[in-house]
Amino acid sequence: MPVGNLTANGAGRRHVLDLDDFSPQEIAAVLDNSRAMREVLGRDIKKVPALRGRVIVTLFYEASTRTRISFEEAGKVLSADVINMSASGSSVEKGESLLDTGLTLQAMGINVIVIRHPHSGAPYLLARHLDRVSVVNAGDGLHAHPTQALLDLYTVREKLGKLEGLKVVIVGDVLHSRVARSDLWGFAKMGAKVTLSGPATLLPPEFLRCKGRLPESHALASVQVDTDLDRAIDGADVVMALRLQSERQDGGYLPSLREYVRRWQVTEGRLSRARPGALLMHPGPMNEGIEVSAAVAHGDNSAIQEQVTNGVAVRMALLYQLTTGNT
Ligand code: CP
Repeated sequence: MPVGNLTANGAGRRHVLDLDDFSPQEIAAVLDNSRAMREVLGRDIKKVPALRGRVIVTLFYEASTRTRISFEEAGKVLSADVINMSASGSSVEKGESLLDTGLTLQAMGINVIVIRHPHSGAPYLLARHLDRVSVVNAGDGLHAHPTQALLDLYTVREKLGKLEGLKVVIVGDVLHSRVARSDLWGFAKMGAKVTLSGPATLLPPEFLRCKGRLPESHALASVQVDTDLDRAIDGADVVMALRLQSERQDGGYLPSLREYVRRWQVTEGRLSRARPGALLMHPGPMNEGIEVSAAVAHGDNSAIQEQVTNGVAVRMALLYQLTTGNT
């Protein structure tokens, strides 16, 4: 059985690099198509021929569980051939540049490169120089993780029925979070009211500097910042806890881990200040007991497992749209 009810909005996109260049209509089309893909994932036989004959490479220079495996599953459910490539064990170890790696994959007739790279901007370099390949950013440095943001948007829209007007609190290590940066674009473009919370040292200074000087029409003009989580979480519809990136705390950003947990951990007590039925989300991987308590992570409000499931559907929708132009 083919995939049903796919929306044709935003045709012509070749790459997914971040959400800053997506219109609200294009985001909505991805979310609509993701719903059709969730239906495919609910079938007994999860296989449709939509991408037969297409080849996808996942090119990961950094570790991943969710993103990499969900892209692989997404491609396979759609009958694409999926090849996984890591820096380790490839000619990258012999010094091959990112650009030469991309050109080599293009010369082999690959249709899509899904890339995760520690350097911000790496997917943009490939997109600029490859003319026969679609590039999907699966996380670049501290910059962006657009497919995570799309699955977050999809999860919220499915669970709460809308995005517009919702209060979304993103809390924790915003400074080092590419997820937070893409979520900001996504939620703001879809009309949600975003508040960033966390220690002042872990909020992005470039954003704090320009905050208040953005014209009212700017997508991020409505974003609030509040270092007091108890106040920020009041009346929230969605609370997104971010991983404290302990590998990036050498700059002395925190007085102590104990202080961080005391002031910014999402606990049952804090979540009770949000709206009844508020969603607790986390992009993963989690440090349970640090940014989120175990009770909250596995409690009734948690949408974390659904985020993971929805990640497969959203990536199916994106791969389908990019490779068929049938957005
Ligand atoms: N959320 C996310 O990107 O998880 P992985 O690092 O496991 O892919």
